[in-house]
Amino acid sequence: MSLAEDPEWWRHAVVYQIYPRSFADANGDGIGDIPGILSRVGYLRDLGVDAVWLSPFYPSALADGGYDVDDYRDVDPRLGTLDDFDAMVAALHELGIRVIVDIVPNHTSNRHEWFREALASPPGSAARDRYIFRDGLGPDGSQPPADWISLFGGPAWEPVGDGQWYFHLFAREQPDLNWDNREVRDDFLTTLRFWSDRGVDGFRIDVAHALAKHLGEELPDQATLDELPREGGHPLWDRNEVHDIYAEWRQVFNEYSPPRTAVAEAWVEPHRRPRYASPEGLGQAFNFDLLEADFDGDAFRRVVDFNLDLAAQSGSSSTWVLSNHDVVRHATRYGLALPDDPDERRGAAWLLAGGPEDELDRERGLRRALAATLFLLGLPGSAYLYQGEELGLHEVADIPADQRQDPTFFRNPGVDVGRDGCRVPIPWEREGPSFGFGAGAPHLPQPAWFEDHAVSAQDGDPDSPLALYRAALRLRRELRTAEELEWVESSGQLVHFRRPNGWEVATNFGSEPVALPEGEVLLASSPVQGFLLPAETTVWLRRSR
Ligand code: GLC
Ligand code: CA
Repeated sequence: MSLAEDPEWWRHAVVYQIYPRSFADANGDGIGDIPGILSRVGYLRDLGVDAVWLSPFYPSALADGGYDVDDYRDVDPRLGTLDDFDAMVAALHELGIRVIVDIVPNHTSNRHEWFREALASPPGSAARDRYIFRDGLGPDGSQPPADWISLFGGPAWEPVGDGQWYFHLFAREQPDLNWDNREVRDDFLTTLRFWSDRGVDGFRIDVAHALAKHLGEELPDQATLDELPREGGHPLWDRNEVHDIYAEWRQVFNEYSPPRTAVAEAWVEPHRRPRYASPEGLGQAFNFDLLEADFDGDAFRRVVDFNLDLAAQSGSSSTWVLSNHDVVRHATRYGLALPDDPDERRGAAWLLAGGPEDELDRERGLRRALAATLFLLGLPGSAYLYQGEELGLHEVADIPADQRQDPTFFRNPGVDVGRDGCRVPIPWEREGPSFGFGAGAPHLPQPAWFEDHAVSAQDGDPDSPLALYRAALRLRRELRTAEELEWVESSGQLVHFRRPNGWEVATNFGSEPVALPEGEVLLASSPVQGFLLPAETTVWLRRSR
């Protein structure tokens, strides 16, 4: 298959997110690596994905799972070499699979050469200007410039011992860059070209809404900061000028043929998302609305209508996501009773309680997850899948404290258990020291129940989640049609839409069967018998007009 064929491939792509350290470990050191991905390209082909997105594989001390980058233009030696990377890209391209890499522009790691230089240089130096340094308060600068709290918990300002402090939105090992600095801007353009020249097809932009900042002379306190509107003028979030940065990036993307693509991770007010998805900017933005919605027909329908409108505003296509490396896996979210507190929807409270088995209905969670996935894959736009969801994996809740890695666990004792539970190395085989992940023990412990989810256990089983994903992705290619959707019926528990070519998708969100809509059943997320659409099930239908 020729990759040059369709420059608009990203509009409808199924993108499979690989968390490289947990996908496949070729050398048995317990950490997934690039040769491991290379050894599994056949799996990705059989799954039928259009592209892979690799979470960071760059040199990193892993203070934040690789989102603390030491060097943006290299491969972590534990994961391989640039030659390995090139071989992986070539093998994926050979199979018609495109490659998206993660760019982390808001912060470097504290081991990045720039940050080391900043620490070794005096206040006011050019080296410090690449980051956000401030004098501390008090006669000797021993008080932080402000009481700000980082997103991972704990103070957002860190002293460096000479009266100055640096700012970090995330962990202290992730100092924020100063995007007013021309050298910072130029260096990222170099990085984008570096990977584009190596054949990378697109970029996922980490925390895309935070790069532009305006702190001013007087820093507000945290309470004031929290109350400021996020409508383009907030000191930290979603400032209008951030789009000047992406306009420059777009010039770089357009130097290539086909133009390189990008997708923004931008947690902004939904109506401001189209700016990130504009063709003069990054071109596409994640929409996490489905991921945040309950398994509820009305909620899903609202999210779809709203986001198709937004996509039309920017001329982009919509993106759909149910799981990624930052959230509790959707099979688990849907298997928990709905908490009263909406802030706890993502399973946080359950995780904190150690993941009590009697509060999780595993079977129901998976049934709903597959129904939601089949619903999502029927929508116009592109779909982002997270490794392991095709195996029907649940969140791993019982990771001992001394084996956890996520900084959100360590920085928020007793409040947050962090994101390790969706980052456990995936099972390939029923046996072996790491269920076929590699020859050694995995870097995060795998539970015994992974055995039943192994790829080898599902291969050849037509009723497995893996078989459903494979069939869905194959059919989705065949059924591709204009980016439109028409609601057929969406009352109560049944949500039913039609695509322009007669492809129909009907989901029963309720817990009782409903009458099966007319048409030939092409695919179903759980077995359909007779004329009923079972509870918590999606079907794809073809209707001849
Ligand atoms: C993004 C990533 C997350 C990371 C954070 C800081 O939200 O998805 O994993 O911790 O940025 O880089
Ligand atoms: Ca390895």
